[in-house]
Amino acid sequence: MAVYDKEQAKAMAERIKQSKEAEKRIAEKMRKIKHKMMVLSGKGGVGKTTVSVNLATTLALKGYRVGLLDADIHGPNVPKMLGVQEVKLMVNDENMIVPVEPIPNLKVISLQMALPSDDVPVIWRGPLKHKAIQQLLDEVAWGDLDFFIVDMPPGTGDEALSVAQLIKDMDGALIVVTPQEVALLDATKALNFARQVNQKVVGIIENMTGEIFGKGGGEKAAKKYNVPFLGSIPMDANIVRCGDEGKPFVIEYAKSEAAKAFEEVVENLLNVLEGSS
Ligand SMILES: Nc1ncnc2c1ncn2[C@@H]1O[C@H](COP(=O)(O)OP(=O)(O)OP(=O)(O)O)[C@@H](O)[C@H]1O
Ligand SMILES: [Mg+2]
Repeated sequence: MAVYDKEQAKAMAERIKQSKEAEKRIAEKMRKIKHKMMVLSGKGGVGKTTVSVNLATTLALKGYRVGLLDADIHGPNVPKMLGVQEVKLMVNDENMIVPVEPIPNLKVISLQMALPSDDVPVIWRGPLKHKAIQQLLDEVAWGDLDFFIVDMPPGTGDEALSVAQLIKDMDGALIVVTPQEVALLDATKALNFARQVNQKVVGIIENMTGEIFGKGGGEKAAKKYNVPFLGSIPMDANIVRCGDEGKPFVIEYAKSEAAKAFEEVVENLLNVLEGSS
């Protein structure tokens, strides 16, 4: 067991006190946001960030006030996909960080913007990440929002646990899967992970539906686990292009099948949330 001298013990007590105070402030802030969800998947690259960004954008276009938190420090893809990765964060009169607003009604911040550069030793990154997430919830001027979406990094990292611990009143997890048969396995993994971090499953979204990967894996998984299926987003090369160019796909290609699919997902999501509240 570690032995602390008086000064160290005092410093630690002070840190715990500050952390508790921050948690209280966060709880108060989160009460001003109606619906809070984290986006998870069983494996990387299935389109969590694409879904987070386009879902958030679709909601914002409908007039909902949306906050989008990118909890992936390794690839700050949310700001990149929205073309705001170069934007410098500002602080308002109350000393709160002002989130970036790529379009009206959409407030965005990335964990990467709040962390020191990559040369931080690996063993420090865990605690630093938790602290950074806490800071982004506590010190960002999110204000009154209808939706708060947290885009998670791939895999079963600590970020989801941090978010779950800090936001006690989450609606739950949105799970993104691809359409193949093997996706059932990924869905199972994601559902188990959601359970581990105490999240209800708000719904499953199938992404990259089409000729290459097929169709139906998401709906099958939803049926098997008796959770809502929110819809399928088709494969569309313009999604890749828009992502690379930093333009929200659902705005650039508002009339495409995929943009309509995002609208459908939003409709289904609203129904599910209404039913559960
Ligand atoms: N429906 C789609 N049609 C075509 N391309 C897509 C679609 N959805 C996502 N993509 C592309 O697939 C790639 C991975 O998507 P994205 O970065 O959103 O996945 P992710 O799950 O967030 O990845 P990671 O696990 O690394 O965070 C990107 O190049 C993206 O443009
Ligand atoms: Mg991602």
